[in-house]
Order: sequence, then C-alpha cells, then structure tokens
Amino acid sequence: MSFITMKPGTLLSPVPAVLIGSGAEGESGPVRNLMTAAWAGTVCSDPPTVSVSVRPSRYTYELIEKSGEFTVILPDTAMLRGTDYCGVRSGREEDKFSRCGFTPVPADGLKYAPAVAEAPLYLSCLVRQRLPLGSHVMYLGEIVRMGIREDLMDKNGSIDLQKAGLFAYSHGVYNALGEALGFFGCSVAAPDVLERRMSGLRSGK
Ligand SMILES: Cc1cc2nc3c(=O)[nH]c(=O)nc-3n(C[C@H](O)[C@H](O)[C@H](O)COP(=O)(O)O)c2cc1C
Repeated sequence: MSFITMKPGTLLSPVPAVLIGSGAEGESGPVRNLMTAAWAGTVCSDPPTVSVSVRPSRYTYELIEKSGEFTVILPDTAMLRGTDYCGVRSGREEDKFSRCGFTPVPADGLKYAPAVAEAPLYLSCLVRQRLPLGSHVMYLGEIVRMGIREDLMDKNGSIDLQKAGLFAYSHGVYNALGEALGFFGCSVAAPDVLERRMSGLRSGK
C-alpha cells in the first residue's frame, strides 16, 4: 500500500474530548466556566501531570491565567451533547452549566475551578508550567486530587473505568469505546490469566 503525503496537521487519533473547568475571582464575585478540549494528554506519572492546550482567545484561558488552576473532567456518553456545546459557545456569552444541565460542584483541592456532578471522573490540577507554543498555550497541570464517582469503584477498591461510558474523539467525530480487546500486559500474560482477565472484562466483572 502506498501513502499520499500531505501538509502536516494534528491527526493524532483517537484523543479524549474532555471538559476543562476553570474559575477565578470576577468583578462581582467568583466566576466559573466549562470548555471542551481535545488537545489534552497525560505527560508525567510522578508528579502526576496532564497537559491541556488552550487558545488565548478562550474565556477559559483568561480564567486559568488568573487562578493558576483548572479541572479536567471526563464526560460520559450521556454528557456528549453538552460536551460538544461547551466547545462551540463561549462562557463569556452564557452560563454553559445551566444551558447543558451540568451541575457545578467544588473540585477537591482547588479554590475556583469546578467539577461537574454528572461526570464519572475529574482531575484537580494546579498549573506548574505554561508553554506558549504558537496557536495554543499549553498548561502542564499537576494533579493534586481526583474525584471518581462512587459507583465506579469495584469491591476491591479499584477504579473500574469500563463502566464509565467514556467516549473518544477522532478527526471531528465522537466515538463510543466499544468492547475490551486486551489489557496492559496481555501480550505476555499466562494463558490462565489471559482467559480470566478477558472473560472478566467481557462480562463487566
Ligand atoms: C471537540 C472539541 C475539541 C476542542 N478542543 C479544543 C482545545 O483543545 N483547545 C482549545 O483552545 N479549544 C478547543 N475547542 C474549542 C473550544 O472549546 C471553544 O472555542 C469554546 O467555545 C471555548 O469556550 P470558552 O470561551 O467558554 O472558554 C474544542 C472544541 C470542540 C468541539
């Protein structure tokens, strides 16, 4: 098979579509906002750090610059329409929480940036580095706390994200994640472990 080569673009795929929660002190009290971001990723395990890249034209940018904190909120499929909406309208014009039916709740470890009660999981992040890259400013946020919806903890106290109903974003399209095809280390697992883990994943146990 031959390749057609093209001018470069950001085609890394699939990526997450997350909500960035932000907040700061406004003229008449605290303000908060939500914005959709696909340019987000895990960048370090210790200290646990994520990156988000935000254009300076966004209201979110203004709030992160003021407060030095943000949340990364993982939406589930029930939140998909609202997640898209938070990516096509600005919080400068309207309150996207009430418009989308998302309930703002305090994010553990942060002063201003909110979590969303309906979401399966959120990461509370403090800005440790700010990298102006061109179109976007990338923030490296140290995860100082995380919140996981109670029903996603299994009986052994582990997080079961298979039940979370997360979705991915691929070249302009939101996709469901589908069935589990393997697990970390499946290529070297003993046959009995492979069988047990895969049947557990398939049955949701
Ligand atoms: C799926 C999707 C992904 C997006 N990813 C980003 C991103 O990574 N960085 C960014 O600056 N804007 C991104 N946007 C655009 C912003 O979410 C959008 O401009 C939003 O209205 C900004 O809101 P705000 O002004 O309330 O901060 C994305 C939009 C969508 C729909």
